[in-house]
Amino acid sequence: MADYLDRIGAGKILIDKDPFSFDWTPPEIVGRDNELNEMATIFHGIDGLNRSCKSVIIGPVGSGKTVLANTFSTKLREKLEGIRDIALAHINCRNYSSTMQVLQRIATTLDPRHPERGFSSGEIIQTIRRNLITHGKHLLLILDEIDVLVRNESAELIYRLLRIDEGREEKGTISLIMVSQEENLMSRFESAIISRLGLSNVLKLEPYNEEQLVNIARQRAELACRKGSISEEVLAKVGRYSAAIGDARLSIELLEAAIRRAEVDGRDEVLTEDIEPSEFRVTSIEPSQVDILSKHQRLVLLGICRRLKKKDLVSSGDAKKLYILVCEEYGVKAKGHTTFWKHLKTLEIEGLIDTKTANSVNGRGRTQHITITNASPGELENRIEKALLRE
Ligand SMILES: Nc1ncnc2c1ncn2[C@@H]1O[C@H](COP(=O)(O)OP(=O)(O)OP(=O)(O)O)[C@@H](O)[C@H]1O
Ligand SMILES: [Mg+2]
Repeated sequence: MADYLDRIGAGKILIDKDPFSFDWTPPEIVGRDNELNEMATIFHGIDGLNRSCKSVIIGPVGSGKTVLANTFSTKLREKLEGIRDIALAHINCRNYSSTMQVLQRIATTLDPRHPERGFSSGEIIQTIRRNLITHGKHLLLILDEIDVLVRNESAELIYRLLRIDEGREEKGTISLIMVSQEENLMSRFESAIISRLGLSNVLKLEPYNEEQLVNIARQRAELACRKGSISEEVLAKVGRYSAAIGDARLSIELLEAAIRRAEVDGRDEVLTEDIEPSEFRVTSIEPSQVDILSKHQRLVLLGICRRLKKKDLVSSGDAKKLYILVCEEYGVKAKGHTTFWKHLKTLEIEGLIDTKTANSVNGRGRTQHITITNASPGELENRIEKALLRE
């Protein structure tokens, strides 16, 4: 077989691909203990037979809403074994975006023989309720990406589900977890829904910070890769690159892509160079951002880009030396230290570079480490060189 085909799935690094597949659920959720505790508080009393709970999880892309909702409900079901029989249904409203589709989906989850058509939405709701009561089950329903349904139609279905037991003898038929990226989701609801949901039942997830993203990547690395194949430096770089958005999916994708690069190269270890900013996912730098820079700001950035093509970080001291070299190349006199620092700050504010303060190794106080996380340094270098030529 051709050499290059031998490399596919060579497994020099990866021993289990599953942790990188998109629908894989991690055994533990990393770094969301407070949020899981909050969910437990919201679901306080769910072991009581007549009790229903409801919650709304809101957070930006990749903040772990779906994984949190799924893991929490699965663990809750396990915990309640022998106390209350929980049926789980996770419905993504992007795939089932009308009231009828959602109801149909719930009905067939509970009873695969439920007929495809012929019933009104009211009838299906009653069928669902009867089915649950007959089997002594409580439904824990996750409506993921609920904003899609609300935008497509209205919040009517939510209202009806929240009132499913009103005026009835048996209570506690359905608990609801609604999930959305939309920060202002609650403002789409009328007061009758808000009061039934309860504002204190809204859990807001923040984007992940760098440390959490490193830990999320580490969990996948430990479960999927050979010991020693992924260093802490590699994980740190993954964290840095994904922290610009705070998206766990991005950190996992960056690691996976780096593993692929290393394996195709025939290596049994991932190097920091294997991690590259994703072309599609990263908020790339607009050409206008370079155009508005002054000449010396461009020269400072150019020096930094050239070093970052080869290395992961550049210290502020080195950035200054590189700036002086670039100035010589372009035949201009380098500005003094204070101006150089001012330019660094501007570049940071403009989102072109990221800086981090670290204790200097040579003991001379604190030094700044500079990285570029939302663009490829090579591309940025080209763009600056072109802009300098046009001057
Ligand atoms: N705390 C975490 N620990 C481990 N893995 C996580 C964690 N948070 C997210 N992930 C993983 O990151 C990926 C994205 O998470 P998830 O799908 O839950 O995000 P989301 O907030 O639902 O995103 P979207 O808004 O796009 O639906 C999944 O593969 C998930 O398993
Ligand atoms: Mg999701």
